[in-house]
Amino acid sequence: MTTAARPPDSGPPAAEQPRAERARVSDVPGIFRLIQHWAEETGAVLPRTEGEIYESLRDFIVIREGGRVIAAGALHIEWKDLAEVKSLVVEPGVQISGLGRAIVEACLEEAVALELRTVFALTTSPGFFEKLDFKRAAVASFPRKVWNECFRCAKYENCDEVAFSIDLSDRLA
Ligand SMILES: CC(C)(COP(=O)(O)OP(=O)(O)OC[C@H]1O[C@@H](n2cnc3c(N)ncnc32)[C@H](O)[C@@H]1OP(=O)(O)O)[C@@H](O)C(=O)NCCC(=O)NCCS
Repeated sequence: MTTAARPPDSGPPAAEQPRAERARVSDVPGIFRLIQHWAEETGAVLPRTEGEIYESLRDFIVIREGGRVIAAGALHIEWKDLAEVKSLVVEPGVQISGLGRAIVEACLEEAVALELRTVFALTTSPGFFEKLDFKRAAVASFPRKVWNECFRCAKYENCDEVAFSIDLSDRLA
């Protein structure tokens, strides 16, 4: 799990190229800080408690810089052929430098390794997921998500998120 945040042809190599890696317990305060920031600032992600992050820590991928978490996201398995990318957050100030892409690509690598065929996301940033070859999908295609989480969400009646999914069949051996 060492997806580089920037492609090799994107300029001279940085001294310490940020890499997407599995999260560790010491990353939890940093993940919590980023999720809390975006949950409060724009509502782009749902708030998570530190307890919830510890419980689902094996889902999380992070990018660190100088030991500080600057991007994070989780791949959560929903069913035998389906997983969701969630809690995707990049440090304000270092957006649009490839970190979000690197987190999602690491999640997709993980999904392929787990033999998961479809990965989806609910998002207010459709353009980002289009850039990553996700296709627009109907939220109703993911009933487990709706029943397990959407119904409990404060924004359920006025949800501004759209669903995107990617079919990984070609990448499965
Ligand atoms: C959305 C977010 C995860 C994207 O990560 P990022 O590191 O800023 O974006 P990247 O640099 O990896 O972008 C990859 C590509 O998508 C494009 N892109 C990024 N955000 C975009 C957006 N909101 N709308 C349209 N295109 C976008 C980039 O320009 C880039 O295009 P390129 O490949 O042509 O250069 C990040 O900006 C973020 O944390 N935003 C706030 C929280 C949030 O919205 N989370 C997503 C919840 S699903």
